[in-house]
Amino acid sequence: MSDKRRIVVTSALPYANGDIHLGHLVEYIQTDFWVRFQKMRGHECVYVCADDTHGTPVMIRARAEGITPEQLIARSHEAHLKDFTDFEVAFDNYYTTNSPENKELSERIFAAAEKGGCITAKSSPQLYCAHCGMFLPDRYVKGTCPKCGSENQYGDSCDKCGATYGAEELGHPVCTTCGATPEVRDSEHLYFELEPQHEYLEKWIPAHTTSDISNKLLEWFKEPLRGWCISRDAPYFGFEIPGHPGKFFYVWVDAPIGYIASLSNWCAAHGEKLEDWWDNPDAELYHFIGKDIIRFHCLFWPGMLHSAGFKTPTKVFVHGFLTVNGEKMSKSKGTFVNARTYLDHLPASALRYYYACKLGGTTDDMDLNLQDFVTRVNSDMVGKITNLASRGAQMLNKSLGGRLGALDEEGRKLVEFAQSRADAIAAHYEARRFSQVPVEVAKIADAANEYFDRREPWKTVKVPESAEMTRTTLTTVLNVFRILAIYLRPILPSYADKAAALFGEQPYTWADLAKTLENAPIGAYTYLATRIDAKQVEAMVEKAKAKPAESGEVAHESRASKNKGASRAGATAAETAAPHADAQERVPPLKSEIAFPDFEKLDLRVGTVVSCEIVPKSSKLLKIVLDAGALGTRTIFSGIRGAYPDPAALVGKEVVFVANLAPRKMSVGVSEGMILFAGEPGVSGGVLTPLATAGAGTPCT
Ligand code: MSP
Ligand code: ZN
Repeated sequence: MSDKRRIVVTSALPYANGDIHLGHLVEYIQTDFWVRFQKMRGHECVYVCADDTHGTPVMIRARAEGITPEQLIARSHEAHLKDFTDFEVAFDNYYTTNSPENKELSERIFAAAEKGGCITAKSSPQLYCAHCGMFLPDRYVKGTCPKCGSENQYGDSCDKCGATYGAEELGHPVCTTCGATPEVRDSEHLYFELEPQHEYLEKWIPAHTTSDISNKLLEWFKEPLRGWCISRDAPYFGFEIPGHPGKFFYVWVDAPIGYIASLSNWCAAHGEKLEDWWDNPDAELYHFIGKDIIRFHCLFWPGMLHSAGFKTPTKVFVHGFLTVNGEKMSKSKGTFVNARTYLDHLPASALRYYYACKLGGTTDDMDLNLQDFVTRVNSDMVGKITNLASRGAQMLNKSLGGRLGALDEEGRKLVEFAQSRADAIAAHYEARRFSQVPVEVAKIADAANEYFDRREPWKTVKVPESAEMTRTTLTTVLNVFRILAIYLRPILPSYADKAAALFGEQPYTWADLAKTLENAPIGAYTYLATRIDAKQVEAMVEKAKAKPAESGEVAHESRASKNKGASRAGATAAETAAPHADAQERVPPLKSEIAFPDFEKLDLRVGTVVSCEIVPKSSKLLKIVLDAGALGTRTIFSGIRGAYPDPAALVGKEVVFVANLAPRKMSVGVSEGMILFAGEPGVSGGVLTPLATAGAGTPCT
């Protein structure tokens, strides 16, 4: 029989410059549900993913931390994989886009596109920051909107009037990294031309996405499709384009190719051939993505694959965005919760269960209502479902020798009813209507609970004559529970595996639904799930509030899932740099441990304050001149005016400063170092505050 399918599944590759948060998990958890379901059905299913490592944000962040991009992405890879593993997201391979396989594949696909005449070169004006030594991606420039004149707008679009434009059109542009004014320079770029595939893509899109998505995308097809800019200038952390020195593949070129690279890496490790998995017409290929990255997956990606003669995906499954308590996740409200912060307070299974309840397989946004979360987990997952096992198994073990008996007529009917929902539930999983699974399961659990309550085993167990009747009751309830555990296994894998262990069985497959367990011993009952407390949620929210800004998070807060035109495929909102954390407002938690060589890089010296004055037009800055002995004098701008209303009082004081920090151009002058000072005078355990950066934006070194 060959109804065995060969299926490759991917989730979008998370950016290496940020932490995994509950929004991301909407995607990885649902993909995991689907993959686990396919595996339980006996199909050959491989789930691959990777970190998306290239691009400007990784480069800038590594610079700011004084580490190499490779060190940064290695650290993220470990952290991401640990988060996913702890949420029971089971990739068959979690790789990196900075891999030899990806380089080779990217070069191969580009060469094929170039050979096929799909690559053109055009020169265009771009903003260049001489201080940072780089061309600035759209999200690294702010200025005045060329259409409506609103200030402080990014280089791609205006928040106020919605206009989209090129960064070089901004009035009074400023580099968001260092504050310098960028200049306009011409640079030649490579474009992937989509128009040759106009007809192909116009047919492809409706056949591989849902109508809401394809209708939107097809609006662009009324006109000739414009080319997509696929190169970036050095310095850029990525792959250099063969034959085009100094030009690098834009991160969105090699990111989706990273799907194939991860699969290729998996194949090599498992004695498989890539051709049998990717370019096999009998193999299916599915991408799970969020609605913000549709045009990359449903336009550029099939265009790229097709032009290079590669197989295109079978379907792209698009989900909506996560809201918390009905609103966009917010750091100030503590609803922007990192995966790790969640895990420090609550069990992964609770979130998996709740997400299942909310995921209907559409592109609608999904709300995590924290109160509802506690209620549903406690009343359904624990109260209705788990209680069947805990009450049933504990009573059977305690009073009836831990042995299941035979089902009677009523019991058999109930178990058969539970089994009869198998096809319906399988259809829900297949169609990603995960929310219907807990609904079906709850219906069956309700019937079992009603049966349990009516038969009152807690009473009959006390009467020796009705011991066997009690055994029959518990046998029924435990058999029903067993069926529910099988149904829930894609959603609650370790939970279901513990249930299997209770019955002395191997991890369940869908085929195990057909069995009933009679006259068999059960094992000791181990904890499956316990109630969660609103206090745990409150503590998590408090903790999330206390966390300083991370660039990955910022990316999503600002990513309003706006789909720009196909032509403007420059930096996405996700390429936003981290804004400076409000470090002075509170004593921050202990930072992560550093190795001695990291510390050794700092050249700390003592200097004497020669003069200290208020900087006009700045509410925060003081201009401090230090006598730095052999180094001469140093001028340092520090954002500490709030703490020193009388600047003259600092004159003559000895301070420690970082002497080898790269000079930094600020709007008021160049700052030549950083003074360290105790955050709150007289408070032991207070932190040394890097005064020169406080309130002055991200360090640009
Ligand atoms: N690196 C790109 C994807 C490259 S795929 C070849 C990227 N990374 S991301 O880290 O920003 O997002 C990864 C996935 O998580 C995307 O599918 C994105 O839509 C999803 N989500 C990120 N935040 C989300 C929410 N708040 N809600 C739901 N999904 C979200 O995009
Ligand atoms: Zn700059």
